[in-house]
Amino acid sequence: MGYVKLVFLMLFSLLCQLAFCSSLPHLCPKDQALALLQFKQMFPIDAYSKLLSWNKSIDCCSWDGVHCNEATGQVIGLNLTRCGLQGKFHSNSSLFKLSNLKRLDLSNNDFSESLISPKFGELSSLTHLDMSYSSFTGLIPAEISRLSKLHVLRIQSYSDGLRFGPHNFELLLKNLTRLRELDLSSVNISSTIPLNFSSYLTNLGLSYTQIYGRLPEGVFHLSNLESLDLSDNPQLTVRFPTTKWNSSASLMELVLYRVNATGRIPESFGHLTSLRTLGIASCNLSGSIPKPLWNLTNIEELELGDNHLEGPISELFRFGKLRSLLLENNNFDGQLEFLSFNRIWTQLEVLDFSSNSLTGPIPSNVSGMQNAHSLYLSSNQLNGTVPSWIFSLPSLIFLDLSDNHFSGNIQEFKSKTLDTVSLKQNQLQGPIPKSLLNLHHLYYLVLSHNNLSGEIASTICNLTKLLVLDLGSNNLEGTIPLCLGEMSELWVLDLSNNSLSGTINTTFSIGNELMVIKFDMNKLEGKVPQSLINCTVLKVLDLGNNELNDTFPKWLRALPNLMILRLRSNKFFGPINDSSAYKFARIRMIDLSSNGFSGDLPMSLFENFEAMKINGEKSGTREYIADMNGRYYTNSFIVTKGLDLELPRVLTTNIIIDLSKNRFEGHIPSIIGDLIGLRTLNLSHNRLEGHIPASLHQLSVLESLDLSSNKISGEIPQQLVSLTSLEVLNLSHNHLVGCIPKGKQFDTFENSSYQGNDGLCGLPLSKDCGGDEGVPQATTPFGLDQEEEEVDSSIISWQSVLMGYGCGLVIGLSIIYIMFSTQYPAWFSRMDVKLEHIITTRMKRHKKRH
Ligand SMILES: *[C@@H]1O[C@H](CO)[C@@H](O)[C@H](O)[C@H]1NC(C)=O
Ligand SMILES: *[C@@H]1O[C@H](CO)[C@@H](O)[C@H](O)[C@H]1NC(C)=O
Ligand SMILES: *[C@@H]1O[C@H](CO)[C@@H](O)[C@H](O)[C@H]1NC(C)=O
Ligand SMILES: *[C@@H]1O[C@H](CO)[C@@H](O)[C@H](O)[C@H]1NC(C)=O
Ligand SMILES: *[C@@H]1O[C@H](CO)[C@@H](O)[C@H](O)[C@H]1NC(C)=O
Ligand SMILES: *[C@@H]1O[C@H](CO)[C@@H](O)[C@H](O)[C@H]1NC(C)=O
Ligand SMILES: *[C@@H]1O[C@H](CO)[C@@H](O)[C@H](O)[C@H]1NC(C)=O
Ligand SMILES: *[C@@H]1O[C@H](CO)[C@@H](O)[C@H](O)[C@H]1NC(C)=O
Ligand SMILES: *[C@@H]1O[C@H](CO)[C@@H](O)[C@H](O)[C@H]1NC(C)=O
Ligand SMILES: *[C@@H]1O[C@H](CO)[C@@H](O)[C@H](O)[C@H]1NC(C)=O
Ligand SMILES: *[C@@H]1O[C@H](CO)[C@@H](O)[C@H](O)[C@H]1NC(C)=O
Ligand SMILES: *[C@@H]1O[C@H](CO)[C@@H](O)[C@H](O)[C@H]1NC(C)=O
Repeated sequence: MGYVKLVFLMLFSLLCQLAFCSSLPHLCPKDQALALLQFKQMFPIDAYSKLLSWNKSIDCCSWDGVHCNEATGQVIGLNLTRCGLQGKFHSNSSLFKLSNLKRLDLSNNDFSESLISPKFGELSSLTHLDMSYSSFTGLIPAEISRLSKLHVLRIQSYSDGLRFGPHNFELLLKNLTRLRELDLSSVNISSTIPLNFSSYLTNLGLSYTQIYGRLPEGVFHLSNLESLDLSDNPQLTVRFPTTKWNSSASLMELVLYRVNATGRIPESFGHLTSLRTLGIASCNLSGSIPKPLWNLTNIEELELGDNHLEGPISELFRFGKLRSLLLENNNFDGQLEFLSFNRIWTQLEVLDFSSNSLTGPIPSNVSGMQNAHSLYLSSNQLNGTVPSWIFSLPSLIFLDLSDNHFSGNIQEFKSKTLDTVSLKQNQLQGPIPKSLLNLHHLYYLVLSHNNLSGEIASTICNLTKLLVLDLGSNNLEGTIPLCLGEMSELWVLDLSNNSLSGTINTTFSIGNELMVIKFDMNKLEGKVPQSLINCTVLKVLDLGNNELNDTFPKWLRALPNLMILRLRSNKFFGPINDSSAYKFARIRMIDLSSNGFSGDLPMSLFENFEAMKINGEKSGTREYIADMNGRYYTNSFIVTKGLDLELPRVLTTNIIIDLSKNRFEGHIPSIIGDLIGLRTLNLSHNRLEGHIPASLHQLSVLESLDLSSNKISGEIPQQLVSLTSLEVLNLSHNHLVGCIPKGKQFDTFENSSYQGNDGLCGLPLSKDCGGDEGVPQATTPFGLDQEEEEVDSSIISWQSVLMGYGCGLVIGLSIIYIMFSTQYPAWFSRMDVKLEHIITTRMKRHKKRH
């Protein structure tokens, strides 16, 4: 029996060896298991961590992320990517005891700005080292260059904290001769690129590394190169090879945003037959896309935005695999008919042709863009009706057709995924389509500057996620839907420049998020709705150019954020001055002109204009007011500065008080001199009397001062000569006397600034002052009654405008004109888009790699 038992046992152990034991690897050495456990202890471990499986009662070779040599059991690989590790990575880390490590991946953790220890240089067997996006900071130690077996080195980061010491980058490239992949994006390298590289390089990522000088052409001839990204190095001068590139067979991804690559795209690009991604944006490139490039039909991403490229785009249909096509801000021309070549671009996700010179209609029979999520065709000269397929794309999220010549009615919306629709600045007509209500994800609805007609149906309030509703500058009629005040997410409500009528019965609910309400240029009547008091974050309120008949809504003082208040050209009446303190502490622009306000100028109001008491240019608080992503909505206003000018966007430093054309009386309070941020002060066409306060000389950035058509007497204070920013001065039609100040800006003003004051003398008037003696006394020049005087002086103010107020004005106007005509705002809005772009491309890359 004992014998049988023995045989059985032997058999069993044999079976065991066959079945299980042979599959057991060599056990992980105790000291290495211990080192790993010590490492684990350095970080708090949550319930989802990979490191939970690191349990000393289990062999360490089977721990998650740990790889052992099958023959020896030594730990040779450690992959801790996305382990949620959080805490410092010190030089005394037990990890450095794992001297056999070949692959170490620490990426996507948070080592809380730890320095990279020189001890990494002791892990001399490493072939792969990935420390990317893990919040390391500081100098990258020169010791990294000892890792001469490295094939892959990745140290890119999200922040600016990592850098190389002088020559260390050169040393790295010189010593790491086997590198295949090197990604140092966002590391501050701050040197030129040395001539010698590992010839094995397949991936080189040096975006945003402050490298400068000339890129050695050798980079393009690395015969294994698959991916090259040198973006965001504006000091890096890139010249492309004009002959065949040695990397042509392998190169799949070439990304060079914002490098110095002036000139044309050379024909040699035609050899890059493996190219999938070509991105050369914001590089000053000019000329047309060379013919051979059209043969690269495998391209999936083509991004050439923000250059000066030109020529037709009609060959684009050849690129049947495109996912992303960004050609914005160039001079490409031609028509879009190629889009109708059947079933092109089934993969296409993003198409951006905005700000080019495309003409003609969008073809109506396009199919195959079922994956498109972004379609930008704004700022071209496209015309015709917008075809219905555009509104039916099943995946579309962003649609921007603004600033073209589209006409006809807006078709029914069928894509339910849209979150942004901008059709502004076209010639679209007809009603706002009802099908908009199916767009439950809509954030931005911008239909302004068209010829849309009909009423605003109250069902628009069903778009509960709307942030921006801009229907301004159309022909909409009827009343303002009551429910608009209940839209809890809305930031911008712009219904200006339509034919809306009736009283504003909208009740704005508590907790609303409205920052901009513009109802100006309609036919609204009645009173300012009291419920505006519920708009506690309101920055801009424009009710100008209506028929509102109310007293000054002084209760608006309770709105702590109000920056712009415009009530101009209505039927407001009554005094404004009030003994209780006003609190308009943030107001920058107040326009009450052309109403029936009366009584003394509101001292207590001026006292509380705290924001006007700051010179923003000096204190650096210069930003646009309530600009919701400049691409889709900007706050534009007409302001009067001698001439009526439209400001496409308003800076916080553009500080304006316009109380003109009312019935204010009494003196000009000298406290106005404390509002040192003022750019424009217009008190003209009132019944003001007394003297011009000398304190006005403190308004050092004042550009326009209009006190004309009042009953102001006394002399012009000589101190006003210190107003060196003054471009427009109008003191005409008052009772001023004495010498006109001389010097500086005052030498640029003409007669028109002073006429209608019988007692003034000196240049530019013909009346000589004849020395200091005998300042003439004030007399009422004409026996005109108020009515006649008003008519008269408004004619004169236009005449004087036409005559010009001197070179200051001309220069000022031309600057503003240039701002308009050079698409200054478009340039600014690009910044957002670019940022968006950088973030999305980075995220994309990031995703691709991990
Ligand atoms: C380790 O594993 C054993 C058995 O699987 C288990 O009982 C123990 O709780 C684990 N220890 C830790 C620290 O998770
Ligand atoms: C490692 O060094 C840090 C700081 O240099 C220290 O706080 C920590 O206690 C050390 N850890 C060990 C295990 O020695
Ligand atoms: C670590 O694991 C991830 C997948 O989890 C993989 O993509 C990555 O290449 C690995 N790192 C190394 C250095 O092998
Ligand atoms: C360069 O690599 C060699 C091994 O190939 C090594 O001995 C040397 O120390 C490294 N040089 C530096 C400066 O790291
Ligand atoms: C990069 O480093 C250089 C010199 O080391 C320094 O002058 C520069 O300011 C740094 N740039 C950034 C963005 O940190
Ligand atoms: C860009 O390259 C040109 C030469 O093509 C050079 O003259 C210019 O200085 C470079 N600009 C910068 C910012 O490096
Ligand atoms: C592009 O393709 C055409 C034929 O489709 C061919 O004739 C031409 O040589 C090609 N050009 C290049 C540069 O390969
Ligand atoms: C569109 O513009 C072209 C010129 O670019 C013009 O010939 C054509 O008549 C226009 N079509 C419409 C519908 O306005
Ligand atoms: C709008 O919403 C209300 C309730 O939220 C609903 O009763 C009504 O049917 C909706 N109207 C449309 C046209 O979707
Ligand atoms: C506003 O309300 C008043 C009184 O409640 C009413 O007479 C008027 O018709 C309403 N106006 C509008 C436009 O709804
Ligand atoms: C403020 O909103 C609430 C509803 O949210 C409303 O009942 C109240 O009347 C509003 N306030 C004013 C002054 O209209
Ligand atoms: C304003 O309304 C009142 C009645 O509420 C009316 O008497 C007055 O004439 C109106 N003012 C103007 C300028 O229309």
